[in-house]
Amino acid sequence: MAAERPQLDLELPARLAVHLDSSQDGDVARKIALISDLHSNTEALEAVLKDIHAQGADEIYCLGDLIGYGPNPREMIRQALNWRWSLRGNHEDALLFLALDFNPDAAQAIEWTRSQLNDPQAQRDENHRMWNFLGDLPDLREDGEIMYLHASPRNRTKEYVRPHEVQDREKMEEVFSMIRRICFCGHTHEPGVFTEDMKFYPPRALANKAKLADGRKYYVNIGSVGQPRDRDTRACYVIWDPENMIVEFRRVEYEYRKTMEKIFAIKQIPRRFGERLEVGR
Ligand SMILES: [Fe+2]
Repeated sequence: MAAERPQLDLELPARLAVHLDSSQDGDVARKIALISDLHSNTEALEAVLKDIHAQGADEIYCLGDLIGYGPNPREMIRQALNWRWSLRGNHEDALLFLALDFNPDAAQAIEWTRSQLNDPQAQRDENHRMWNFLGDLPDLREDGEIMYLHASPRNRTKEYVRPHEVQDREKMEEVFSMIRRICFCGHTHEPGVFTEDMKFYPPRALANKAKLADGRKYYVNIGSVGQPRDRDTRACYVIWDPENMIVEFRRVEYEYRKTMEKIFAIKQIPRRFGERLEVGR
C-alpha cells in the first residue's frame, strides 16, 4: 500500500484555483450521497441513511452490490426504489446470470438470496417488482466527464483494482486511459483515491476529504456500506459535491453485532460473512 500522504497533494494548485462558484444563483452546493456494496446489511444501511439525511444530501446514487452475503436483501431493494439510480454489481450479475466466478460460500449466499426474492409468502407483485428492478440495472452511468460504475472501466462489474496495484503500471495506465476525468467505483470494499501518477490515498491520508484538482484524472473507490474490508467496522460511503469537486469519505457506526446474529441464524449463509463484520475485513 502507498505511504500516507498529506491532504495537500490533492488540493487544487493555486495557479489553477478557478473552480465553479457554488453560490451561483444563490444555490447551495449540491451534495450527492454515493453508496455501494450494501450486501443486504439493513443495520448498516439504516445508519448510513440517517447520516446522509443529517448531511443534507439531496440525492442518492448506488454503485451496486445491494445484495449478497447478508440477511436482508428485500429491505435493500425496497430502499433502493427511492434513490435516484442504482447500478448492477457482480452480486446482481451472479443472481441474474451465473455465479461461475464466485467462491462456493458467496454462491451459496446468492442462492439463499434468490429464495428470499422468490418468497411465496410475499406478495407476488412485490417479487415481480424486485426482479424487474434488478433486471433493469445498468452497469454504467455518466454525467459529462464523470463516470460511475461498480468495479473498473475495463470490466464494469467484475475487475478488482486493489490499493497495492498502483504498482502494476500497465493495468493502472489502461484503467486511467478509459477514464475521461473522474470515475467512482466500489467493489473492493477498500475506500480511497487512485491518482494518475500511480498513487493510492486511503481516506485517513486525506483526513477523509479531498478536493479534486482541475485537469487531472481520479479513480475514487467509495468503500462499502455493508461489509467494510479496510479493518474499520464502520459503514463507509461518500458525500460528493460536484460543483466544488469535493469528495468526503464518511464513516458511520452501526450495530454490526445485530447483523452478525441474523447471519448466524440463517443456515444457508456461511458464518464467516458474519464474523468478518466485527473485524472489518
Ligand atoms: Fe461487493
